[in-house]
Amino acid sequence: MKLASTVLALGAAGALVLSGCSSSDRGSSDNTSTAAGFAQDSVIGVALPQKTSENWVLAQNLFQDGLTSAGYKPIVQFANGGVSEQQNQIQAMIEKGAKVIVVGAIDGSQLGTQLKAAHDQGVKVIAYDRLLLNTDAVDLYSAFDNYKVGQLQGQSLLKGLAARKGKGPYNIELIAGSPDDANSKPFFDGAMNVLQPKIDDGTLSIPSGQKTQQQASTQGWKAENAQNRMDTILSANYKSKELQGILSPNDTLARAALTSVKQAGKPTPVITGQDSEVESVKSIMAGQQYSTIYKDTRELVKSTIDAVNSYQKGEDPKVNDTKSYNNGVKVVPANLLTPIIVTKDNAAEVYANDPTLSPLTK
Ligand code: BGC
Repeated sequence: MKLASTVLALGAAGALVLSGCSSSDRGSSDNTSTAAGFAQDSVIGVALPQKTSENWVLAQNLFQDGLTSAGYKPIVQFANGGVSEQQNQIQAMIEKGAKVIVVGAIDGSQLGTQLKAAHDQGVKVIAYDRLLLNTDAVDLYSAFDNYKVGQLQGQSLLKGLAARKGKGPYNIELIAGSPDDANSKPFFDGAMNVLQPKIDDGTLSIPSGQKTQQQASTQGWKAENAQNRMDTILSANYKSKELQGILSPNDTLARAALTSVKQAGKPTPVITGQDSEVESVKSIMAGQQYSTIYKDTRELVKSTIDAVNSYQKGEDPKVNDTKSYNNGVKVVPANLLTPIIVTKDNAAEVYANDPTLSPLTK
């Protein structure tokens, strides 16, 4: 910011002098960092996790097409078999000469050996959507602001309860994501940052007593795990109570929890979500699921490919956060996009430029 305004103030001549330190310096060929770039037709690896939500499937296609049309040779792979498959895929990408490896980790703490091997070969490593933990072999975190996602979910749960369930106190239950996914903690912590004061002052009560991320977690982000847990909670704690609200970290788990509540013959609770999955947007428009989060995958893939392009030129990619995402070894420089909360009220507006979701709001 400071540099940008200085450049503006100095005008064109001054800007030329300063351009050696600007990341938008595309023209100069004698700067040393350009020499460290790589050929435009290089191999770029994209290691994706399992298909636990629609956003990952969208990302696969967008990376394949976007990297190909930029001239690269992409290798885009899911690791449906689990962590060791993902480790092997990353190792193979290094052996095939990848210059950048983009990683959406299944378990961000289990890739240290492969990422170190990548760095030893001079490969740039981008953590995509999920942070890579306990390693210094990561150059950039390209993601939506996950803590903010959690805060928005907490706020919308409170708003929905006030709008749909009258005056409190309210009975709620918490669902957290898969414990191996590095995002599950910022999602949960962000939400609890908003909800905890309301638990403390008695506005919210959690009849199951399952208040920690660990107690609320959903192994593998699997719908059946969330549904089974909710079945058990309902039969043990809600014989004569209404469950008024559920914090759900994503849409898949929100729909699973709603199924459980419906099968128990209970009224529809206010429930949050994330990802703007087609079935959940339909559910929101039908007055069932209360909210979701829009993280436009097209934007995130584009900004990640922009970072690849910067590395290709030997430049540093754009970063807008250098303090929030400590991975246990270092604070990973991040380029964070802003998530948007969506309810029935603003869906048409938020999805206006999304050809898949926009028709669902008509
Ligand atoms: C993503 C979420 C997604 C979840 C399950 C998380 O890491 O950020 O958008 O719902 O994985 O696939």
